[in-house]
Amino acid sequence: MALGGDVKPPSARPGGAAVTSPSSLEQELEKAARIIRASAYTIALVGAGISVESGVPPFRGPGGLWTKHGEPPMDGYQRFLADPRAWWADILSRQSEHSEFIKALSEAKPNAAHCAMADLEKLGFLKHIITQNIDNLHQEAGSVAITEIHGNRLKLRCISCNTRWPLGDFPTDEIPPRCPHCGGIVKTDTVMFGEPIPLDALESCQRESRLCDCMLLVGTSAVVYPAAEFPIIAYRRGAKLIEINPMETPLSDVSAAVLRAPAGEAMPKLVERLKELSEAGAG
Ligand code: APR
Repeated sequence: MALGGDVKPPSARPGGAAVTSPSSLEQELEKAARIIRASAYTIALVGAGISVESGVPPFRGPGGLWTKHGEPPMDGYQRFLADPRAWWADILSRQSEHSEFIKALSEAKPNAAHCAMADLEKLGFLKHIITQNIDNLHQEAGSVAITEIHGNRLKLRCISCNTRWPLGDFPTDEIPPRCPHCGGIVKTDTVMFGEPIPLDALESCQRESRLCDCMLLVGTSAVVYPAAEFPIIAYRRGAKLIEINPMETPLSDVSAAVLRAPAGEAMPKLVERLKELSEAGAG
């Protein structure tokens, strides 16, 4: 897939070959660490792949939910708006039923990749995380500067004023629940198919994508918009892309470094290499 269709950058590496051999993984790690160390403002765009090692299935590719069950209907939000009372009655009545995805989410714990990203933030190398995941695992790992473009499974949100509440803090005896501030309808914070991305989250993502001079692409297939737009915004402004993914994506060819490995393996190594470079005072 060409970036934005009109700008097809030359492939950064001959034939766009995937990085597989361990030695070249070391070389790519070295390159990635030096790019991050030289960067003034590194952020990360994160996808479902980072939580695979926490037992949460991805959506696409091997073992993907959509690969197994097909994509869900794209009008979930329109059906919610058509009868929010029925929607709430349905989810409250099915609270005991857990789909494969919901069950995996409820049992998931942060893995080495989530923890490494929290370390990168504490070390001052990572300024912000844009996550497409609703699993709250970055927060549980200790990360702070986060924008959840698809919402958070542990929160509710007013669809009019975007006020959010922790799941347990909002009474659902009256359905659909109403926002005490503006009277708007309250729903789960997770963004449904067909639902516009909440403006505050979208603006935060666009701002961070314009600010960064380096973007880590961690466990995302980079095909779902608007999230897939952010690397393009960054790349066009001269930012370096660093991909961490066992599989190729449409952005592999334009990434300055590619760590073709699971995030749980690559991210801790990246933190270690950055620490070594810092201790050595190396450029
Ligand atoms: N470490 C890193 N990456 C991994 C790992 C791993 N252990 N395992 C799989 N991956 C990669 C896959 O190769 C794939 O490129 O993670 C990516 C997961 O892609 P998707 O399942 O498409 O997930 P994502 O990019 O987050 O999807 C975006 O689509 O369906 C919607 O709302 C959903 O937020 C989701 C959005």
